[in-house]
Amino acid sequence: ARPVRPGRYEVTQRVAAAEIIPGTTTEVWGYGGTFPGPTFELRRGERATIAVRNELPVPTSTHLHGGVNPQDSDGYPTDLVVPANYAADHHGHGEARPGGHAAGRQHAETRHQTVKDYHYPLDQRAATLWYHDHRMDHTAPQVWRGLAGMVLVRDDEEDALPLPRGERELPLMICDRAFDTDGSFRYPDPHSAGSFGGDYMEGVEGDVILVNGAPWPVAEVTATRHRLRLLNASNARRYRLQLAPGGRFVQIGSDAGLLAVPIAHDTIPIAPGERYDVVVDFSAYPVGSTVTLVNTLATGSAGNVMRFRVTRRAADDSAVPRRLSHPEARPAAVATRTFDFRRTGNAWTINGHSYRPGVPLARPRLGTAEVWRLTSDFHHPVHVHLAHFQVLARNGRPPAATDGGWKDTVDVRPYEVVDVLARFHGYRGRYMLHCHNLEHEDMAMMADFEVI
Ligand code: C2O
Ligand code: CU
Ligand code: CU
Repeated sequence: ARPVRPGRYEVTQRVAAAEIIPGTTTEVWGYGGTFPGPTFELRRGERATIAVRNELPVPTSTHLHGGVNPQDSDGYPTDLVVPANYAADHHGHGEARPGGHAAGRQHAETRHQTVKDYHYPLDQRAATLWYHDHRMDHTAPQVWRGLAGMVLVRDDEEDALPLPRGERELPLMICDRAFDTDGSFRYPDPHSAGSFGGDYMEGVEGDVILVNGAPWPVAEVTATRHRLRLLNASNARRYRLQLAPGGRFVQIGSDAGLLAVPIAHDTIPIAPGERYDVVVDFSAYPVGSTVTLVNTLATGSAGNVMRFRVTRRAADDSAVPRRLSHPEARPAAVATRTFDFRRTGNAWTINGHSYRPGVPLARPRLGTAEVWRLTSDFHHPVHVHLAHFQVLARNGRPPAATDGGWKDTVDVRPYEVVDVLARFHGYRGRYMLHCHNLEHEDMAMMADFEVI
């Protein structure tokens, strides 16, 4: 995406037709009319403004996931951008609300602007961020229809490293979708018989894997190092990524930026909302061969993600330095709090409650750090707005090798206790934490916290 003038970008959300499955047409709801939306390459300290105009049939709220932003630009679920012709009582386009929770009745859709300027000060390290819809009760179907895209924040520290760049740097937005035979996205109606309680309750998965909006694509790569910025933008599907016929990922970054030192992994587990920044050296494979990025958590169609065809040898002046960034001292925690993610009756709850907008469960102080203990009865990818965190422990033991670095999303597995050290920096105000299984989010598995 190009700025209309320095630091100002404009994007219109609209309905558009895309050919995703060859020979069929899919109606997408896209930022800029594309799915994914445009990739924004921004610089640390740039103070970017992205003006979002809504020409969709429904209200939206845009959240920059991983961004350290003032609350008015954080994409709060009721802070809506409403299309010009939208009446408050209108619920067209199969807008059934996931029932069974109180949040939908508690909030009023108050803002009636059709364009909103989101201000992103970008006073944060280089990282792979993403943006997506965050509308109360409707995030999952609206993201499913296409409202998501990537943001690459760059800075001088990262630019000084000899990492692969240009054509050898690939942002990869991975998500799953289901399609009807005419090509349209298939998403269950939460109110239709059978969908509530079953598949919907656990989160919606599709049998087609898309990377940057294309099903099982093939990327042509030279036999050199490539940087893959992996994002799991799926509503509910978790992946464990592996290279076939073998090979390693050298992880250089996590959700919130570069690691201190690179770390090699044979497999990468990636839950909805998480990012892994990795380098793969394709010179380890014969020219002419194909390397498949597989998902070992699924068999069948969802077991493959994409392929790389190694086309030719080429000069490679890139490297993965032994030191990537300066490790920041871990701040001391001033408080410990527990957030319990659990099914309570027919609802997904945090500390026993469905989302209560405006009722903060915690009031951390700006400039402090706290230990947040996340407990769970199921797989809940827990995401915290504003505050980045480090994983301290899983079940009282050291975290996994893939838990390193500063993060904003962590997969909390069934009956796990995950301790994270969260740092509240940037802004005072009202933010939220929630499950990033988007169906759980729409079923009100969210909570506010207020930085004071
Ligand atoms: Cu990526 Cu509050 O969401
Ligand atoms: Cu977020
Ligand atoms: Cu969940």
